Amino acid sequence: MKNTKSSKWQRTIYCGELRAKHAGEEVTLLGWVHKQRDIGNLVFIDLRDREGLVQCVISSERKALLEEAKKVKMEYVVGIRGQVRMRDEKARNPELPSGEIEVEAKGLKILSQSQVPPFVITEPPQASEELRFKYRYLDMRRPSMQQNIKLRHQAALRVRNFLSQEGFFEIETPFLTKSTPEGARDYLVPSRMYRGRFYALPQSPQLFKQILMISGFDRYFQIVRCFRDEDLRADRQPEFTQIDIEMSFIEKEDIFDLVEAMMASVFELIGEKIEVPFPRFTYEESMERYGTDKPDLRSEIGIIDLTDVAKSLDSELIRNAVASGGVLKGLEVERGGAFSRSQLNKIDQKAKGLGGKGVIWVKKQDGFKSSLRVDKEKLKFIWKKIGAAEEALVLLVADEKQMALKVLGELRNEFLQEQEEKRKIFKFAWVTDFPLFEWSEEEGRLFSMHHPFTSPHEEDIASLEKEPLRVRARSYDLVLNGVEIGGGSIRINDLELQKKIFKILGLSQKEAQEKFGFFLDALLFGAPPHGGIALGFDRIVMILAGEESIRDVIPFPKTTSALCLMTGSPSDVGSKQLGELGLKKTKE
Ligand code: AMO
Repeated sequence: MKNTKSSKWQRTIYCGELRAKHAGEEVTLLGWVHKQRDIGNLVFIDLRDREGLVQCVISSERKALLEEAKKVKMEYVVGIRGQVRMRDEKARNPELPSGEIEVEAKGLKILSQSQVPPFVITEPPQASEELRFKYRYLDMRRPSMQQNIKLRHQAALRVRNFLSQEGFFEIETPFLTKSTPEGARDYLVPSRMYRGRFYALPQSPQLFKQILMISGFDRYFQIVRCFRDEDLRADRQPEFTQIDIEMSFIEKEDIFDLVEAMMASVFELIGEKIEVPFPRFTYEESMERYGTDKPDLRSEIGIIDLTDVAKSLDSELIRNAVASGGVLKGLEVERGGAFSRSQLNKIDQKAKGLGGKGVIWVKKQDGFKSSLRVDKEKLKFIWKKIGAAEEALVLLVADEKQMALKVLGELRNEFLQEQEEKRKIFKFAWVTDFPLFEWSEEEGRLFSMHHPFTSPHEEDIASLEKEPLRVRARSYDLVLNGVEIGGGSIRINDLELQKKIFKILGLSQKEAQEKFGFFLDALLFGAPPHGGIALGFDRIVMILAGEESIRDVIPFPKTTSALCLMTGSPSDVGSKQLGELGLKKTKE
């Protein structure tokens, strides 16, 4: 193996690769001191590199070496030369992959010293996220971070190889570009040459990839950074990476086949055999059955409609909700019978937080119990209708339909996310045929549910102007374990239809021309039928790595308040720099 420049200290193997089969071999290791234990006539050094840890032993037989080893401290960079040997039976560490062996040191060189680090490199980490992000280079020394970044590389490589073999070209598109809004705010970059004008960082390469189809490239992909100035969460970053795909002369089935095979290939990396094809639901089916457009299929239990039995329940609360056009919906929560009162209260609070009126619970332990004061026989009836298991919990919501589904859908996904034993199960789903538009109360206008370049269903085109909210889109989302990991659509390739959509979205002809004129022009010159998808690469790697936040699979992430604590960005800039851009700070 080649090594960095450490003169004659050439690494022969990574610490974390050493196993019993190497016993007897002479090795040279280069790494960081994870731990040093000085017990007088012996010094133990746990040496760490990107592949893992190994224990090295320095004995008093080598006096000078022992003295040197005593100087070594946590996070020093050292080279150790020595012989691999089996550990005594009772000294073996089954927790450590290299725990059967150790390295008897014959030479040691301190290559770089370290101050006492602000936190010890432990797994799981003990320091606050704030401190870890400030010293991200130290945080990334954690074995799980090293593994996650390696996995990220391997996943990207798989995607590249897979798509190249399928005849795709990886084509770069600009970062300094024109704003093509997709729901979030743009990051703007002021132009120095043209004062008062701005580039926008792309929220996605949507229009460029469509234009590449018009240019005849047929099959495009890019593992590409996208930028969105939006509120952040565990699975959202202001800059994130997409696997962006576009194809000409295809139907959505072609995208499904391609993405399913690609995901199967990527999940082989963690030894998972993914079943294809993935189940498909229309948006309507998914909402009806799972109360969400991100169904978590790690459980087959769906939401059940009980509206027809609502009247017989003798509950004013339920009767009133149903009488005013509402519904009664029920959900079985696996093993929820064991939930405590305070857990049940939390569930109720969560439902209220979502805008609902709360939930009714029913348990079946030592007879039926419920927060709803009705006859036990009625509870039994509901239980039977839902077909719930003995140790389950049943939740009921009586409300306006959308709200009832939303509350039970969110609760359902949350329960599944929390189940430890479901961590290693991977269930994909396609959700198709979303409404083309949604209504924004706040802005009093229609918005595209995906983006304005999404094609409506042929048979719905006639309703575009009269009943826009009923028009279905030729769009699809890919969902994995209740997380949206991708979205795409078959696009509009007809100029007149594209103009009509802009008009319905409230864009005047002039505005449409100003914002999207370059694209509308391109549609004039032979735009093939085309479609595509973008997959959230960080989210995929997060799930592959078994992490709960994309921050754990991004080397240099931002905090949830969009700060980079390591570099201190965003930061102030001097008035000279601003002046060059023709900008001036205003007082707050
Ligand atoms: P969309 O906006 O659905 O589609 O994005 C595609 C996927 O990107 C991921 N994603 C994010 N990941 C991390 N942080 C974020 N802030 C973030 N925002 C989105 C999600 C999402 O499913 N141009 C279209 C695609 C197309 O039509 O081909 C687009 O960008 O996993």
